Amino acid sequence: MFEFSISDESSTQTFYQDLISAAQALVDGEPDPIANMANISALIWQYVPDLNWAGFYRRISEELVLGPFQGKTACIRIAMGKGVCGTAARSGQTQRVADVHAFPGHIACDADSRSELVIPVVSAGEVIAVLDLDSPLPDRFKDADETGLCALIEAISPALAG
Ligand code: SME
Repeated sequence: MFEFSISDESSTQTFYQDLISAAQALVDGEPDPIANMANISALIWQYVPDLNWAGFYRRISEELVLGPFQGKTACIRIAMGKGVCGTAARSGQTQRVADVHAFPGHIACDADSRSELVIPVVSAGEVIAVLDLDSPLPDRFKDADETGLCALIEAISPALAG
C-alpha cells in the first residue's frame, strides 16, 4: 500500500532520516496505536537488515503484553524488570545488548537471536510500550542504529499512545 524511497546503507544516518520520514508519513492522521505499531513494525522489518524479530510490547499495569510484530511467535507476557524488554520498560533506558547470552535473565523467544535492541516508548513521562528488535548476528546494533531508531520512536511516540 505504501511505497517509500529509502537510500541504501551507504550512509546509515541518511538511511535513518529516510526511515523516520517514512514512519511519520505512515502514522500521519491515524489515531489507533495498534494499527500504527503494526505498520511501524512492518516498516522496520522491511527496511532494517539482519533482523529476526521486530515488534512492540505494550505496558499494561505491571506487565508487558505482546503487541504487533514481525517474526516468529513470541512470549506473550513479560513482567516489568524481567528480560531485556522488562529492564528497558522499568528503567526507561534503551537496552543495547551485543550478546544476549551474556545478559542475565535474557528471555529467549527465538533461539536464533544473538543481539537485541529495546527502546522504551514514552508518552506523558510514562513508558507505555517498548520496541524490541532482535538479530541473528552478534553485535548487530551499532551507535548509529540506536541513535536512528531512538529518534524514530521519539518522532512518532504520540501516535503509539492510546
Ligand atoms: N528477548 C526479550 C523477549 C522478547 S523476544 O525477544 C521477542 C527479552 O529478553 O526481554
